[in-house]
Amino acid sequence: MSNYHIKHLEEYYQVYRKSIREPESFWEEIAEEHFLWRKKWDSVLDWDFSTPEISWFKGAKLNITENCIDRHLTTRGDKTAILFEPNNPDEGSQHISYNELHIRVNKFANVLKEQGIKKGDRVCIYLPMIPELAISVLACARIGAIHSVVFAGFSSTALATRINDSDCKMVITSDGSYRGAKTIDLKGIVDEALESCSCVETVLVAKRIQTDIHMNMGRDKWLAPLLEKASDDCAPEIMDAEDPLFILYTSGSTGMPKGMVHTTAGYMVYTAYTFKNAFQYTENDVYWCTADIGWITGHSYIVYGPLANGATTVMFEGVPSYPDYGRFWDIVQKHKVSQFYTAPTAIRALAKQGTDFIENYDLSSLKVLGSVGEPINEEAWHWYNENIGKRKSPIIDSWWQTETGGIMISPIPYVTPTKPTYATLPFIGVQPAIMDENGNELKGNQVEGRLCIKFPWPSIARTIWGNHQRYKETYFSAFDNKYFTGDGALRDEVGYYRITGRVDDVIIVSGHNLGTAPIEDAINEHPAVAESAIVGFPHDIKGSALYGYITLKDTGESRNHNNLRTEINQLITDRIGPIAKLDKIQFTNGLPKTRSGKIMRRILRKIACNESDSLGDTSTLLNQEVVQEIIDNVL
Ligand code: WT7
Repeated sequence: MSNYHIKHLEEYYQVYRKSIREPESFWEEIAEEHFLWRKKWDSVLDWDFSTPEISWFKGAKLNITENCIDRHLTTRGDKTAILFEPNNPDEGSQHISYNELHIRVNKFANVLKEQGIKKGDRVCIYLPMIPELAISVLACARIGAIHSVVFAGFSSTALATRINDSDCKMVITSDGSYRGAKTIDLKGIVDEALESCSCVETVLVAKRIQTDIHMNMGRDKWLAPLLEKASDDCAPEIMDAEDPLFILYTSGSTGMPKGMVHTTAGYMVYTAYTFKNAFQYTENDVYWCTADIGWITGHSYIVYGPLANGATTVMFEGVPSYPDYGRFWDIVQKHKVSQFYTAPTAIRALAKQGTDFIENYDLSSLKVLGSVGEPINEEAWHWYNENIGKRKSPIIDSWWQTETGGIMISPIPYVTPTKPTYATLPFIGVQPAIMDENGNELKGNQVEGRLCIKFPWPSIARTIWGNHQRYKETYFSAFDNKYFTGDGALRDEVGYYRITGRVDDVIIVSGHNLGTAPIEDAINEHPAVAESAIVGFPHDIKGSALYGYITLKDTGESRNHNNLRTEINQLITDRIGPIAKLDKIQFTNGLPKTRSGKIMRRILRKIACNESDSLGDTSTLLNQEVVQEIIDNVL
């Protein structure tokens, strides 16, 4: 039996039990046998969920890039590490071998050093899905700088907020980016953001779209000439197990985005271990995750997890619809992709196109299909299974979060029998609990409630950058001595988990986690707006879309509602990004409120979902009369 690679269901149960009974010796053995350490740990796990403080492999010394790159050079130097597939297929793909990756990461790391970046400094990376993105992430890790990747679809305001929150000294970006037939002026967005960021000293600019851009003298530097001059030898910075590796921002239900801090050793061990098992990766497979590295899925399962296993990982710059809706399947055929990991929203968008785009391609290389980001609905699950997997590739519906760093509940393909819409069983080392609203754990099967995790796993985020108190309040205060996920879940009669969705004010739109508060803040900036409330409603491609109820200031003048809708969505695009635009905007004379003045989103949600016949008791509302008006005018 190998604890590192699980191949049968009995083995899963055996290893799972061991990981729960003796978590320390279990993870110690995995860490010892499968990774490169400069010094071993003094203790495996120290934790206290009440403060909360968690550390794994305390006292150990390592560098994650030695584990992801250097140690593969003797056995896999010529193997493709990153297989880059550009936006335009005519440009041709690039195979970056482990040897080449080593050289490019070392050079980039030396450029960072020359530009004054030191261990512990924060570097913001705002790049499209081009090789420089993965390479700059690894270059930061090489020298111990903390990377903060900001998804390149975020607006300049959102970018500035994130840069300032963690005091980034440098921004790495490109002259622009390709997205299907469009180009985007990334550098212009950075310039705008930096008008309000005094912490940034240097901007490194990669060339991608070859347009003329403005370079700010002294601050902005082209990357290529610096890389050319740089030495390809950069000794890895020796990091402590608990030194921060990166910050990644995620939306909360209220306030500022949260800069989740992930540290080095535990994150490495858990992402590598889950990658190996959740995808059953074997040496000659070509693995493809379609996410952007701007999200946690890309950090853990495009970069760190695959590279720690010496895998070939595909990095795709483009979109599923360009040049046409056959693009994904063209890539699968061309590179003989074995594991394909995507999001339900992409599956639904592709399903809508019918099967014509699939039939021309040979998908027989596929062995494992993955889904992540939101609950996968039954219809999408079956479409994926039949048309892409041809009923022979298991679908792993993997539940996890930015905060968890790695996959937490998921079938193991060819090991765990799947069940549509169920994430099935906890991963090795993961101890879920379903809680009722009074804080009691619901033991046994056939229960439904709030999903918590009762014991630390190696890749749990350790804090929120600059705000440990908020970390404690958000994740460790709702339930005593447990990590609260923000999700609801049920456990069926055989112990399989199904995630039922968020129980807080976070709405998942096309797999993007959006808090309602920042969107409402953006809307309320409009001079005509008095008040607003955002809820989610079902959408056949996005999963959920945003419905905004907006009351206008009473100024006596009449307003063109369509112009207002456009202006409000433009404000949202400027403040957050186009992903947060509202699909429907209903202007109302008031919003239903409790006597304490809290907006009753539950009622608004029901109305937006066409469930206004089951509103329940509204008699306790302060302004019951607005409810009927809202129902009468629903869009
Ligand atoms: C939230 C976390 C994990 C990487 C992508 C999202 C939802 C995620 C599933 C799934 C049902 C899922 C949860 C979770 N979610 N995967 N397989 N089934 N829901 O990371 O942006 O941090 O969002 O996404 O609601 O809490 P994230």
